[in-house]
Amino acid sequence: MQTIQANNYPIYFNEKGYEALNLHLTQNKYSNIFIIVDSNTNEFCLSKLLPYIETELNVEIVEFEAGEENKNIETCVEIWKVLTELGGDRKSLVINLGGGVVTDLGGFVASTFKRGVDFIHIPTTLLSMVDASVGGKNGVDLGNLKNQIGVINVPNMVLIDTQYLETVPQNEMRSGLAEMLKHGLIYDKKYWEEFLDISTINFDDLDELIYRSVEIKNEIVKQDPTEKNIRKALNFGHTLGHAIEGYF
Ligand code: GLY
Repeated sequence: MQTIQANNYPIYFNEKGYEALNLHLTQNKYSNIFIIVDSNTNEFCLSKLLPYIETELNVEIVEFEAGEENKNIETCVEIWKVLTELGGDRKSLVINLGGGVVTDLGGFVASTFKRGVDFIHIPTTLLSMVDASVGGKNGVDLGNLKNQIGVINVPNMVLIDTQYLETVPQNEMRSGLAEMLKHGLIYDKKYWEEFLDISTINFDDLDELIYRSVEIKNEIVKQDPTEKNIRKALNFGHTLGHAIEGYF
């Protein structure tokens, strides 16, 4: 699958992503690598990623407890402390391996540690592949207020490998599919029609559908990176969902 060029960073798919990641490691003089995971991706995804990484550098795994309730500044403080204790510096590389909570929080941690270090997203859920990892939004919740604290800052690359979806429960897949449907609804009638009868979707073609969804998300973000116009349409559904979640 062709690499998608976003604003200042590439989005790679499957095997090509690991080749690009290893090339990136040889071309940059990083001091060490921190892989941020949550308790789920540490258990189910990390062992899939590690064999691909070719490096002499010290690789440290930094885990936090999975769950939206941990997407807060307290978790960031813990991670900033761990990075400091383990010798993190301005030439450290952060790799965020996980769903939207990990990529949002890990991107924020990396964007603020030492005034910003390089980071790479490797999304592991369908929703984070087609939405959270693309577009440079990073942040955490403040109490019940979703994504109240954050920055827009792009990663060095995004690596989408659909093998991680094997680790994802069905209900997580559904929220990703709903997001893809929304991409069709707001941007591409033909793509939307493919989703109208969900029973006819060929899941062998899921890679192609994910690819189109990432293209749509990226096209929208490129037109409106700081969410002044069309990007607001992507919040349709999230805003209501976040309000309901916040209330309860
Ligand atoms: N998740 C909505 C956006 O990235 O704009």
